[in-house]
Amino acid sequence: MNILIMGGPGAGKGTMSAKIVEKFNVNHISTGDIFRSEISNGTKLGLEAKSYIDQGKLVPDEVTNPMVKHYLEGLSDKKSGFLLDGYPRTLDQAKAFDALSAGTDLEISAVIALQIPFEVLAQRVTGRRLCKECGSIYHIESNPSKQEGICDKCGASLYQRKDDTIESLQIRLQEYQNQTQPVLKFYEEKGLVQTINANQPIEKVWADVEKALSL
Ligand code: AP5
Ligand code: MG
Repeated sequence: MNILIMGGPGAGKGTMSAKIVEKFNVNHISTGDIFRSEISNGTKLGLEAKSYIDQGKLVPDEVTNPMVKHYLEGLSDKKSGFLLDGYPRTLDQAKAFDALSAGTDLEISAVIALQIPFEVLAQRVTGRRLCKECGSIYHIESNPSKQEGICDKCGASLYQRKDDTIESLQIRLQEYQNQTQPVLKFYEEKGLVQTINANQPIEKVWADVEKALSL
């Protein structure tokens, strides 16, 4: 099964992705995570992406499309498919991925759209904490770690993303509305989209996502 998870900044894509990966044994491909890893490794790609990401702007398609293609080609263990988190998020990316995947085993079989009012997102992104080592996602109110600042799973310290500010969120929301909403329409026309109410406690959102993917 090849799954695409969509939703605005802070909608819960990463949180649901961790659960989907565990339950459905798929490879998690998060373009945001790949960019952040390239940035922390100081690569050429990371340097190129950094200025966009820090401002909340999308990285240009000419950089993102080949990166995803390269990443997919390099997957040594194909597992039971993959989960795309944060890609495609422009119409050009969707068309490029469609051209790459049509008639192959890379075709998307389900799209999960996390729906949430924009007003809720500021609290989600400003309260988010991430593990430096394993990437586990926490929230200081809705999903706190047992010990403040320390990951429950691996004991490493937690950090805040540089783009998790109100200023950057405003730009990310604009990018989402202008560039990513048309992608949702693109997949709706293909009859692939299952819309999930993401404005519920994490376990309830997960129950709905799991059900949608098990049909
Ligand atoms: P990316 O990393 O994809 O960021 P994003 O889309 O802004 O989404 P987030 O990761 O912020 O949120 P999420 O939906 O994963 O929420 P999470 O589960 O963490 O992209 C970052 C940047 O990279 C982009 O701005 C762009 O510059 C670049 N980029 C990436 N892909 C690109 C592409 N394809 N093209 C061009 N540029 C690209 O949850 C958020 C918080 O809420 C957490 O604290 C969590 O614990 C909490 N939470 C989650 N669910 C719930 C719930 N149900 N109830 C209460 N709290 C919850
Ligand atoms: Mg994420």
